[in-house]
Amino acid sequence: MQEIVSEIHSWMIAAGEKIKENLNKESLIVETKSGRKDLVTELDKATQDFLIEKIQAFDPEAKILGEENGLDRLSDFSGRVFIIDPIDGTMNFVLEKENFCIMIAVYEEGQGRFGFVYNVMKNEFLWGGPEIGVFCNGKKIDPPKDIALEEGLIGLNAPMLMHNRHHEVEMSERALGVRMTGCAGIELIALVLGQRAGYISNLAPWDYAPGGILMETLGLKMANITGEELALDGRELFIGGTPTAFQELLTIANQ
Ligand code: IPD
Ligand code: CA
Ligand code: CA
Ligand code: CA
Repeated sequence: MQEIVSEIHSWMIAAGEKIKENLNKESLIVETKSGRKDLVTELDKATQDFLIEKIQAFDPEAKILGEENGLDRLSDFSGRVFIIDPIDGTMNFVLEKENFCIMIAVYEEGQGRFGFVYNVMKNEFLWGGPEIGVFCNGKKIDPPKDIALEEGLIGLNAPMLMHNRHHEVEMSERALGVRMTGCAGIELIALVLGQRAGYISNLAPWDYAPGGILMETLGLKMANITGEELALDGRELFIGGTPTAFQELLTIANQ
């Protein structure tokens, strides 16, 4: 493993251990952000701080974009940039105590180099990038089959399906079924492992960048809902999938 890959891998395993140790703490501080469905816990913040400490010791020059603690905007993507989602699926973390991920992406001069998505309680860790391929718990994985929408499942964000502003009901009817996991990382892992034809959601850069690097390394496609490249700047409506399903979803969304 390249030094940067094994470093990040070890930080994320250590972060996962800390989360597991504190998962059942009765006094866990849970706050709301934009509304009652948007939670942040002390462990989201502490995990991000822990990862930032490791990043700064490893590469003091690196820039950081992270969901928590006021680091959620970055305008300059020159040099090396780490994008962190310390706990992806905070609602699951609080209510289910499983089905959440720790995620990191590494960009260099605006290009995605490495992505890391760790489903902590399932002990499923995917990492990789264009130079090294994609690994699941250390085993190199093959690109998934290019299935069409009618041959597979799609992941969908619940509010998008309820509002149906981009023909999400039609997407759901065309697919074999719909899954809603409440965790972008789990959806992107499922795509990378060939368990989904597509995924449509409303995502921030830290939600899609880590898994997105893995997807593109294996020939999967992603874009915003109008088909433009995702900008790593604020929330966007995300469409990802196998090359065939991705085109179908884009066509349905923009008819
Ligand atoms: C959220 C989850 C969720 C997605 C939201 C994200 P968070 O991330 O990935 O599945 O629908 O858009 O914000 O806030 O739990 O890290
Ligand atoms: Ca959040
Ligand atoms: Ca997230
Ligand atoms: Ca998060």
